[in-house]
Amino acid sequence: MKKLEDYVVSIPDFPEPGIIFRDVTSVLQDADGLNLAIHLLMEKLEGLDFDVIAGAESRGFIFGMPLAYNLHKPFIPVRKKGKLPRETVSASYELEYGTAEIEIHKDAILPGQKVVLIDDLIATGGTSKAMIQLVESLGGIVVKNLFLMELAGLNGRAKLEGYNVDSVIVYDGK
Ligand code: PRP
Ligand code: MG
Repeated sequence: MKKLEDYVVSIPDFPEPGIIFRDVTSVLQDADGLNLAIHLLMEKLEGLDFDVIAGAESRGFIFGMPLAYNLHKPFIPVRKKGKLPRETVSASYELEYGTAEIEIHKDAILPGQKVVLIDDLIATGGTSKAMIQLVESLGGIVVKNLFLMELAGLNGRAKLEGYNVDSVIVYDGK
């Protein structure tokens, strides 16, 4: 029986020397890998009381949607700036070079709703922190930050201190 780790192809020195890129497309392009990934994420939500799943464009959509569908919850897409047609709130976060901005529709989350945030990967935690800001600005309560993969060497957890953070695979390095 293959483990999820066995489906993740690691590419050394991509996109830059010294970085090992953990490629999620190698999981997705294998039916068994995809099935296992969704099952393991589902397991992480067992017994959790929540109302809504939100995921960040683009890779957070890939994993958030099947979970929302299977658990009969709404899915809220958090999009890169300028894509959502109705009234939004936005949050900025640091990239290696410059900043990025993500947005959520103002009516996507109601005050007091319990929200699970999903993404494929936590690296520095910048994207997740910005997602939390968006949800909280609408009065939502982030009950879990769930990832398929975590690069523990970048210490994204420290940025999410005080929040529930859970990952299927934890890689020691960057
Ligand atoms: C990647 C990944 C996470 C984020 C993790 O997304 O999918 O969303 O980086 O990094 P962080 O913890 O340092 O914020 P990216 O912004 O590359 O865009 P994509 O999902 O559209 O590929
Ligand atoms: Mg992403």
